[in-house]
Amino acid sequence: ADAPAPDKEYTFAIIKPDAVEAGHADAIFAKLAEAGFRVAAQNEMTLSREQAEAFYGEHKDKPFFENLVTFMTSGPIKVLVLSAPDAIKAWRELIGPTNTEIARADKPESLRALFGTDQTANALHGSDSSSSAMREINFFFDGWAYDNMPAETNFAVI
Ligand code: TYD
Ligand code: MG
Repeated sequence: ADAPAPDKEYTFAIIKPDAVEAGHADAIFAKLAEAGFRVAAQNEMTLSREQAEAFYGEHKDKPFFENLVTFMTSGPIKVLVLSAPDAIKAWRELIGPTNTEIARADKPESLRALFGTDQTANALHGSDSSSSAMREINFFFDGWAYDNMPAETNFAVI
């Protein structure tokens, strides 16, 4: 059987350059709050090539890697730690499919459908697992997870 959903969990999100540039950040903050997410930490920055390559290191051999790094370094982003019950899975569901076109066709209420541009410029990132969330939070908020994750969250078991 599946483990019960944790009542408080942290995940990591990025409002990507296309959505910041288009002025969608405030609408995204409103949608995430309405969906029950709290912003536990946030920062605005522009990624260096080295940071983008390291963050997306798992994709370095993919054909889209260069496009992805070029896009992610193209302008300011907002990096967020979000909390909610079952936050990791719930945030992936709220943002929707990776490809904006597919999101618009299959999940028109999802945040990528509402705010994304195409298959690379898709407005939002979300951690895909608790180990990714831990890695990604610490990538951008050095030491934050170890100082802030309550022992009863999922992070205690990774
Ligand atoms: P991936 O981890 O597969 O998607 P997700 O962000 O939904 O976890 O890919 C990382 C990012 O790479 C994705 O958000 C957009 C970009 N990307 C492309 O540009 N082309 C592609 O074909 C894929 C799969 C991803
Ligand atoms: Mg991914």
